[in-house]
Amino acid sequence: MWGVVVRMVKMLLVLLLLLLTLLSGASPQKPRQIIVKAGEMVVLECPRHIGYNHGETKLVWTSYTRQEMYMTTDVSSVEQVPMGVFVLGRSLVILSASVNHQGNYSCSLGNASSQFWFRLTVYTAQSREYDKRTKHPVTCYTNESCKMHCPDVNIPAANILNITNNGFIWHKEGESLPKSSYFSSVEMTDHGVYTCTRSYLYRGQMYNMTFTVELDVKQKEPERTAVITSPHDSDVFDVDLGSTVVIDCKAVLYSDFDEIFWLSEGSFVENNSSFLFFYNFTRNKHTEETKMTASLVFKIVLEEDLLKNYTCKLESISQGPSFVTITLAQRARPSYMSLAVGIISIVVVMTVTLVFYVKFKIEITLFLRDTLGCQRSSADGKRYDAFLLYYKSDTDAGLNDCDRKHLESVLEELYGYSLCLYDRDVLPGKAEAEAVLDCIEQSRTVLVVPSSPDSGPGSGLLTAIHAALVERQTRLIFIRTERMKVSTSGSLPEALQLLSKAGDCVTWKGLSSTQPSSSFFKKLCYYLPAPQCEEKLRLLPQKIQDVTS
Ligand SMILES: *[C@@H]1O[C@H](CO)[C@@H](O)[C@H](O)[C@H]1NC(C)=O
Ligand SMILES: *[C@@H]1O[C@H](CO)[C@@H](O)[C@H](O)[C@H]1NC(C)=O
Ligand SMILES: *[C@@H]1O[C@H](CO)[C@@H](O)[C@H](O)[C@H]1NC(C)=O
Ligand SMILES: *[C@@H]1O[C@H](CO)[C@@H](O)[C@H](O)[C@H]1NC(C)=O
Ligand SMILES: *[C@@H]1O[C@H](CO)[C@@H](O)[C@H](O)[C@H]1NC(C)=O
Ligand SMILES: *[C@@H]1O[C@H](CO)[C@@H](O)[C@H](O)[C@H]1NC(C)=O
Ligand SMILES: *[C@@H]1O[C@H](CO)[C@@H](O)[C@H](O)[C@H]1NC(C)=O
Ligand SMILES: *[C@@H]1O[C@H](CO)[C@@H](O)[C@H](O)[C@H]1NC(C)=O
Ligand SMILES: *[C@@H]1O[C@H](CO)[C@@H](O)[C@H](O)[C@H]1NC(C)=O
Repeated sequence: MWGVVVRMVKMLLVLLLLLLTLLSGASPQKPRQIIVKAGEMVVLECPRHIGYNHGETKLVWTSYTRQEMYMTTDVSSVEQVPMGVFVLGRSLVILSASVNHQGNYSCSLGNASSQFWFRLTVYTAQSREYDKRTKHPVTCYTNESCKMHCPDVNIPAANILNITNNGFIWHKEGESLPKSSYFSSVEMTDHGVYTCTRSYLYRGQMYNMTFTVELDVKQKEPERTAVITSPHDSDVFDVDLGSTVVIDCKAVLYSDFDEIFWLSEGSFVENNSSFLFFYNFTRNKHTEETKMTASLVFKIVLEEDLLKNYTCKLESISQGPSFVTITLAQRARPSYMSLAVGIISIVVVMTVTLVFYVKFKIEITLFLRDTLGCQRSSADGKRYDAFLLYYKSDTDAGLNDCDRKHLESVLEELYGYSLCLYDRDVLPGKAEAEAVLDCIEQSRTVLVVPSSPDSGPGSGLLTAIHAALVERQTRLIFIRTERMKVSTSGSLPEALQLLSKAGDCVTWKGLSSTQPSSSFFKKLCYYLPAPQCEEKLRLLPQKIQDVTS
């Protein structure tokens, strides 16, 4: 136990001895580095702690390279300082440094043990090293004022009266004209290397000291101010009473201490989601900015909520608070009245159109046919628009000769239909049924006309062609008379009774139907296909062909 303590004390004593040898100046303290350009003045100032200059005790400067000592008293004239090295006050002045001056210097009080060390390095004027090692960096921001200071290292102390400060002058590297060291609003183009030349007057001679300053001009960073991005002030939110409404307040923040929250009528909104009305929030931190959303939640919008104002407040440590105040308004109900009126009007218009069409469909169709002109092509290749098939009406209800002629001429001459007539167009010589079927084949419709004094094929023929009509699905139009209507279908030959169900029916009303503009003719034209206009033209070559063959 005792042995351990003794060993520790011994160790401490050894350490203390080591420290004392270091401090005793056996090895000099780290020298102060002084850099100077060849040909320029340099001033080494002995620090105060080395001792005060009390008359009898004098500062002694020693140059170790040149093995020379300098003292204040030594110098009284320039002749005595051939190397231009002398002591002024506490300073060692080298008027024009050269490589010969390079080396270690020390200052001490007499030949006392306390010394201060300098190491002087002299660079030639061409050496880039000097600029590199002594460049003073200055940073300024565009659009701001900027002042460069001329460095004041190793310059003569102000109290050395023998050396007169002659001021300094600035130059920009690469420019000959002197520059100002002050910019009221610095620009990017102002960046570069500047030289500041201090000049001193000693015994009528000018001695210079130059310093380089590198000015770096930076773009001023845009102001980053926290801001509420939505909603906007005085926004009005349309809400439905009783519904759930969430109003998001979004902000961009630049500090962790900045935040947004909701106020209602100037007091804090609760952040507890068990309330009917509260707010919650999210923060999303990106590299520089933080996006924060504070959501004002109305679980159920009450009528009283509409009367209040709601403020989203942004609190920031770097700027004043900002506010956005919004209000709620009841959403306007859609007008059911106008909706109903709209629907009713549409229905009415549709009904009227429908009724109009149904009532005037014949007129409309005929009008359209008229305006569009006769139909162009007849792709079916048929020769006639209609075949007039007369049959003997059982009763005395059919059309008489005169009416029939009238019907044919109105259809052919007035309306331009091409008709196939039994007694005109059915070629004699063939078997009657075959000839009639030929004619039907060539016609688009068959107009079935009852005739009173029988003129046309008899009922035997009807029976014969009945099957053919059914098979070919020939379009049939039946003309009836008023008297026939009374006796219903009984008046139709048996062969036609079944067919009459498939065809259209037009009623002949005697005298009133003879007018070409009568409803009888309108209806008939409506049921008949539109007359073909090219038919007759095409007939011509056919006829020639017939003749030649
Ligand atoms: C400094 O000036 C004083 C008085 O003007 C003069 O006596 C002294 O010799 C000068 N010292 C040097 C080093 O020139
Ligand atoms: C200056 O002093 C240092 C030690 O502090 C020494 O290493 C160096 O060689 C000396 N230089 C000259 C030129 O005497
Ligand atoms: C101090 O310097 C004086 C002369 O200036 C000399 O006589 C003396 O011996 C020196 N003392 C020491 C310790 O070097
Ligand atoms: C500098 O200031 C001028 C006017 O004062 C302005 O037009 C320009 O935008 C500013 N430039 C920058 C980068 O701030
Ligand atoms: C000192 O600088 C001035 C102005 O820059 C110049 O005219 C003068 O020649 C320089 N003197 C020396 C010794 O370099
Ligand atoms: C919001 O309401 C409070 C309290 O009624 C009122 O003092 C304040 O002026 C209102 N703010 C706005 C912007 O209407
Ligand atoms: C919620 O509000 C209470 C006070 O009402 C407060 O102490 C708490 O920090 C709030 N919570 C958050 C996440 O802001
Ligand atoms: C929220 O409010 C409910 C009811 O007032 C209460 O029980 C609960 O502790 C509250 N929660 C917080 C986090 O304050
Ligand atoms: C806030 O509360 C509402 C309603 O409870 C919910 O829909 C929403 O997701 C919440 N938002 C956050 C960020 O918690």
